[in-house]
Amino acid sequence: MTVKEAIAARRSIRKFTDEPVSTAQLDALLEAARLAPSSINCQPWRFKVVTEREDVAWLAGMPTKGQRWVASAGAILVCCADVQRFIDDSAANVRFLRDSGILPAEMLSGLEEYLSRAESAQPEVLRWAAAANCSIALTQVMLQAVELGLGTCWIGMYDEAALKERFQLPEAMPITALLAVGHPAETPEPRPRKALADILIE
Ligand SMILES: Cc1cc2nc3c(=O)[nH]c(=O)nc-3n(C[C@H](O)[C@H](O)[C@H](O)COP(=O)(O)O)c2cc1C
Repeated sequence: MTVKEAIAARRSIRKFTDEPVSTAQLDALLEAARLAPSSINCQPWRFKVVTEREDVAWLAGMPTKGQRWVASAGAILVCCADVQRFIDDSAANVRFLRDSGILPAEMLSGLEEYLSRAESAQPEVLRWAAAANCSIALTQVMLQAVELGLGTCWIGMYDEAALKERFQLPEAMPITALLAVGHPAETPEPRPRKALADILIE
């Protein structure tokens, strides 16, 4: 399967069979996330992999604002952003680039400016910046899932406090998204997309 084919074949799947997602499949999905690009290579994504039936059933209610379909998922990836490491690892990587002399001076000053803006940013701004990186990792997971014959659905509606408590997630790591994963039990038609002309700015 080509990347083009995977992109075209992906759908949000909200109905899954009982077949569990295997450890090998989960490993392949996490590997796709691990290889994702990130700003200054900071890799802020952290995953809690939920596969216990009891936990998945719990998620399919109040914690996802009443999304009952979630109960049939084989696994839920809870994607968190390690905001402190987002800053620290970015700083370390900028230092490395500076000390190794790889980058031209003007590019280095741009990176240092980017970093100092990040270091002084409000927590909410940092959360969103880290979340943008996490979204790239999850997108790679969704496409890898297609190649493995798995279905996924992004879950953007959830009760963060409830999830943090249930799974004992660190307070300092905001949850950026959940991803339901499983063996598809439906084959939806493609959902509508805007025409190319509608997404180009003249
Ligand atoms: C950021 C984001 C949040 C989403 N949140 C939800 C959600 O909470 N529940 C849900 O059923 N689908 C959710 N979706 C899936 C979208 O509804 C879906 O991607 C869109 O309708 C297009 O359909 P397709 O993915 O099949 O192409 C979300 C998608 C994204 C990217």
